Amino acid sequence: MPRLITIPALVDPHVHFRTPGGEHKEDWNTGTQAALAGGVTTVFDMPNTNPPTTTLELVRAKKTMIEKTLTEYKRVLRYYFYLGATATNLAEIARCQNEIIGVKLFMGASTGNLQVEDDVVVEEIFRECGRLGIVLAIHCEDEAVLQQAKSDFVGTPTARDHGRLRPRTAAITALQKAIQWSEKYQTRVYVLHVSTAEEIELIKAAKAKGIAIFAEVTPHHLFLNETDLEHLGNLGKMNPPLRTATDQAALWSGIHDGTVDTIGTDHAPHTLEEKNLDYAQAPSGVPGIETYLALLLDANHRGLISLDEITRLTRTNIQRIFNLPENNDTVTIDLELVKIIRNEDMLTKCKWSPFAGKTLNGWPILAQIKD
Ligand code: DOR
Ligand code: ZN
Repeated sequence: MPRLITIPALVDPHVHFRTPGGEHKEDWNTGTQAALAGGVTTVFDMPNTNPPTTTLELVRAKKTMIEKTLTEYKRVLRYYFYLGATATNLAEIARCQNEIIGVKLFMGASTGNLQVEDDVVVEEIFRECGRLGIVLAIHCEDEAVLQQAKSDFVGTPTARDHGRLRPRTAAITALQKAIQWSEKYQTRVYVLHVSTAEEIELIKAAKAKGIAIFAEVTPHHLFLNETDLEHLGNLGKMNPPLRTATDQAALWSGIHDGTVDTIGTDHAPHTLEEKNLDYAQAPSGVPGIETYLALLLDANHRGLISLDEITRLTRTNIQRIFNLPENNDTVTIDLELVKIIRNEDMLTKCKWSPFAGKTLNGWPILAQIKD
């Protein structure tokens, strides 16, 4: 028997829809369909595109391209952009302030070429975002620690070594710096994809001191851990990497005690062909928007999270942190629908999911955009 109820539609504060330059992985026609299927009516799109979205002109050009695609395919989705921070575009932050949801800063190299390694420059970015009251969203992995881990590694790494090449200390070191600068410049800091128990502790302590820091966790860090690399191989390669079961438990505790503010999917599609390359060549990132709500509803079914917590983490907290306008978007869900995640059912252009084969109890049926 179906058990249908209606809840607020989700916001995904972290997606890579790949326009411009990565349209063979995703475009705004397929991305929109995947979002709506996942219960999402609002997305915040990342700037590690090709070219990267790092100036006001590039922000506007990206918007024009997206509007063209949405019109052509008659799709509707609410969307916002992050501006990518670089070593040389500090002045763009003020220029873009009315057209972006926040600034994205990579403290270490990941997909694309957007990392800012010089701490003097990074501090300036914190200062400018603090001055303007713009949210600074951070990929916390310290480049120097990543480089050291790479040079320490002996032999030929495989997907199972991804966590050794991108150790937890990289995330912890970067976060420690971010907390200091957030305090110094009163910058509202949004820590993307928190993956370790230590980060949860650091953020809890920073919040207790009144520092304006917010934490996001991803579904893949909540529902997978490093043991899944055995069967996933490169399909489980993402940055930051999958961690231990202990870390996973810490993320869940962080959800329940309020340290974790949001769940963002870090929807980062790459084609299977790209993922099937050797470990070193295969790009990091996994798609996630389409399974976002279903995984959480299944967790609700298993008693891991309440529906109120789901709405808080996927909607109301995001609205509050980013000062989003209100809307009445809804998603109808069926709490009794049991279905297996299958690659061939995916609407994302890359047509695979790291969760393929999992049976979930509870699925979105219809997401609706309303005024
Ligand atoms: O795994 C990741 N994939 N981490 C990132 O930081 C970027 C993302 C992507 O764009 O593919
Ligand atoms: Zn990302």
